[in-house]
Parts: sequence; C-alpha cells; structure tokens
Amino acid sequence: MALIHGGQLQRVAKQFNIAPENWLDLSTGIAPLSYPIPSIPEQLYQVLPQPNSALETAAKGYYNTNSLLITNGSQAIIKLLPTLWHEENKHSTTVYLPEQGYKEHALAWQTAGFIVCWYQDTLPEITEIKENSVLVVINPNNPTGQLYQKATLLSYQQKLAQSNGLFVIDEAFIDVIEPAQSMANISISNSDKNTLILRSFGKFFGLAGIRIGFLIGNDDWLARFSDHLGPWQVNGPAQFIAQKALEDKHWQRQQQQTLKTLSSQLQTLLTENLPMQQITTISGTALFQTVYFKAGRDDTSLENKNIDGKKSAENYYIALCKQGVYVRLTDDKCALRFGIPKAEDFERLANALANIKN
Ligand SMILES: Cc1ncc(COP(=O)(O)O)c(C=O)c1O
Repeated sequence: MALIHGGQLQRVAKQFNIAPENWLDLSTGIAPLSYPIPSIPEQLYQVLPQPNSALETAAKGYYNTNSLLITNGSQAIIKLLPTLWHEENKHSTTVYLPEQGYKEHALAWQTAGFIVCWYQDTLPEITEIKENSVLVVINPNNPTGQLYQKATLLSYQQKLAQSNGLFVIDEAFIDVIEPAQSMANISISNSDKNTLILRSFGKFFGLAGIRIGFLIGNDDWLARFSDHLGPWQVNGPAQFIAQKALEDKHWQRQQQQTLKTLSSQLQTLLTENLPMQQITTISGTALFQTVYFKAGRDDTSLENKNIDGKKSAENYYIALCKQGVYVRLTDDKCALRFGIPKAEDFERLANALANIKN
C-alpha cells in the first residue's frame, strides 16, 4: 500500500489541470533553499560508491556521535526496522505511535503484525508502557511541531531499556531546534540494544532528492542494518555533497537564520490572511507551519465540530489548489501544513489566501 505524502506535485497538477511548473509547491517540510551543489569529481559517477571515511567523520561531527550508519534516508530504516526488531525480541507485539505523524512508521509496524497503541500530543504514561514494547517518538513532531524535552525522553529511554523494549526517536526535523535537545549525542553503549535515533539529511539541507540519512545506535544494530541493506546504498555524488554540507558550519548558521526569519514571516502572513476566528492554532517549526481549523463554528456536538473542522481545511486545500498553490492537507483533514516559501513567493501565497478569505 502506498501512502499519500506531500511532494506529489505531478499527481496534484494532473488532478487540477495546472501544469507542474505553474505551481507554488509548499507541500513538504523540506527547506526551500538548499545547500549549493559543489563541483563533483567526475570519477564519483564512474566508480561504485566506496565507504567514505571523510563523510563519516563529517557526520559524526555534525551529529555529535561516535556510532552512526550512513543510509539512503530514514525511510529505508523505518521500513526494515520491525522485521529486525522482531528477530531481536520475539515477545514484542505492541508499538506506541503518535496518532499524528509521519505515517510510514505505522505502516511498517502494522505490516509486520504489531498492535498499535496510538498516543496524542502527550506521550503514553511511562508507568503504563508494557514490557517488550516499542515506543516511536517523532521529535519535533511533523505536522504538529510538538517538541518533547530531552530530559523526558531520557526517562523513557531508561524505561524501555529496563522493560526489554525499543525506543525509536525520529529526529527528521530537529536540525532547526537547539542541538542540546537532540538525542543523537547520548552515549550508546554496546549493550544498549534498546535505543535507535534517525536523522534525515534532506530536510534542513534542502536536498531530499539525493537520498541520504543516518542511523544512530549500538554497533550491533548498525552492523545488522548494514548487512540487510547491502552494499552501495548511497551513491558517490550524494556522499560527496553531504560531506561538504555537513562540514560547512558557516552555511549551516546562515540556513538556521534564514529559516527562522522565513518561518516567522510565514506565521505572520498566515495570521493576517486566514480567518483566525475559524482557527484554533498555528504551530510548527522553522521548516513548516501547520494551521488547525476550529472544530466547529457552534459548540453543538463533537461530531459536528469535527465535520466542520475537516470541511474548512479541505475547502481551503481545494481553493488553494485551484490557484496553483499546493500545501499538505493532513491525514485527518483537520489541518493544513505549509512548507516555508522562498521570500519571492510570499506575495503569491498571501494573494491566494486573501482571495479565499474575501
Ligand atoms: C518525520 C519523518 N521521518 C522520516 C521521514 C523520511 O525522510 P528521509 O527518508 O528523507 O530521511 C520523513 C519524510 O517526510 C518524515 O516526515
């Protein structure tokens, strides 16, 4: 089964009969400005990708860890993980997952036969976490932007280790948060088979197309994933680009500042051009902003509230698409997630929203 994600411009362009080049695509949380592609040695296109110690050093420096595996994106790990975990712990049958969040996690665990216990913004009560279970936290969450504090996560890590469980922290969007909040730098001993951290490269560096990411875990986990994924996971040019980007502190600082400025301008634009009386919250990170539509105009019943909330978000989604502006309607259809526009695209977005409001 293929899930619907943002970034499916071809499909949406066809649906609304507007040529792909005429769209403003804000449907993903990928930075609108990307790391400039360096001049790539031609040889890297000619030979098979080699283990790249320069990239490994750069990644260990950037993520502040000693134990990582270079992968072709977090997605490959998400898909394979339930099978490998089941081999590790045959008694494990339950996974706790965020109800709102990247749905590939749920698909992978459900496909492997795990029972899903959904949680909302608040993590499941620590004392109620069952033996041998798996907890997946997306930090910060996409699309809600909810950030879990590191101290909290460390206590869950301890709990899952004690109860023979697995703690998976997906940090796809954490690059725009204070580095101290990341779990990537915790020391993972070789006996710790209970903690895995996923880092995506494509979002902050704006280069999702080159497919590269990193898994942080103990040596045994890294070796098992490496064996299962096989050789040549990441092509040579992608390795080269990622190495330069991960080393480039100056560009990273600039990117942080740009995303911070653009995302706060986006927040203002949304507040000014959306009917705020129909909106509960606008939340997110410097890589996206999510607008939650009010459950209902009149506080009659919960059922009506949900229908109205869905209607507003969906109506807005369609009205924006009709103007060639593509945003992400969340799976529950109650919210719209806006990727960060480039400075030159703000006017088009503001006009499209104003046209709907007026
Ligand atoms: C929360 C989250 N995790 C992981 C991924 C997968 O990213 P990638 O495979 O590019 O690292 C995504 C993609 O959108 C995501 O939103």
